[in-house]
Amino acid sequence: DKGNHRHFMAKEIDEQPETISHTLSHYVDMASETAALREGLPFDFASLPRLTISACGTAYYAGCVAKYWFERYARLPVDIDVASEFRYREPPLMPNGLSLFISQSGETADTLAALRYCASQDQHIASLINTLESTIARESDVVFPILCGPEIGVASTKAFTAQLTALAGLAVAAGRARGVLTPEAERQLVHALVGLPSAVSEALRAETQIMEIARHLSRAKDVLYLGRGQMFPIAMEGALKLKEISYIHAEGYPAGELKHGPIALIDEDMPVIVVAPSDELVDKTLSNMQEVAARGGRIILITDEVGANAAGKDVAEIIRIPQVSSFVAPIVATIPVQLLAYHTAVAMGTDVDQPRNLAKSVTVE
Ligand code: F6R
Repeated sequence: DKGNHRHFMAKEIDEQPETISHTLSHYVDMASETAALREGLPFDFASLPRLTISACGTAYYAGCVAKYWFERYARLPVDIDVASEFRYREPPLMPNGLSLFISQSGETADTLAALRYCASQDQHIASLINTLESTIARESDVVFPILCGPEIGVASTKAFTAQLTALAGLAVAAGRARGVLTPEAERQLVHALVGLPSAVSEALRAETQIMEIARHLSRAKDVLYLGRGQMFPIAMEGALKLKEISYIHAEGYPAGELKHGPIALIDEDMPVIVVAPSDELVDKTLSNMQEVAARGGRIILITDEVGANAAGKDVAEIIRIPQVSSFVAPIVATIPVQLLAYHTAVAMGTDVDQPRNLAKSVTVE
């Protein structure tokens, strides 16, 4: 049931404050502001040599953000690959490592094949799943649920933020188990997670402004999304969302790679969406943005108050997200890229919930 919404995708974008809150209540203890692990673990985070993540599409981008979190907050080395590459590379894996598979449907053929490869290599098999009655869930040693409810729109939205929320909780739990996070550091991270539902509600208020921007975006032939650090996967996710529902060509690029080639594409006809909430890297990203501006590129900057003040005058539009801890900023910055794709597609009149050539669950290789 779409309720008052025109599309399932719009409903699923809108309900994220509630779905994130639901996911959070599973992964954190709100009262004590600590990470909670409710699943019995067949492995010990403290002695893990390495974490190997495989997934496809949007789920892969969630894993890319999680890599930053596990490495930063748990000092756990992470390898991440798209499942269709990982499975054929047949990488050597250390015995007793942990392999994690992220899948909304739990049925993606390449992700399942990657899982079976890892199972044959003496890895602990964990999965992060929405559809718990699924093949990937059944074949895992431990299943972490993302608990966002059925996702109907083909373009994944609330499953992505639920995946990120669950992964954030797991990274904090791993950081505690590995002795990296002091109780106070853990409390601060969990406090930031607990604030997510209200921060996401606030980010959703930019919708009217984004509808206006989307009208311009719908006339573009190509759109570039830039991000650095943990915002790079959000740039890729924004580009994927735009491609799949509006059919406009888009690319997510690490901001620092711009001058190694893609800057040649920049002209007045190329909108550039810069995902850069204030963090320790924001100045670097903003200086890449200035290079785009100097070549006439039309910049749409997604940032917070501090980032907006540092941005200067070169920006055509600033979409504001609330000021949050850099830990949870990727989740909050996801909201505007989802809304941009959605409203661009609506402006173009495409079939938002059932984009051409795409299926909700990809069970062929
Ligand atoms: C993008 C999208 C796809 C899926 C991918 C993996 O909006 O929906 O890229 O994320 O096909 O699907 P799951 O998570 O079901 O394995």
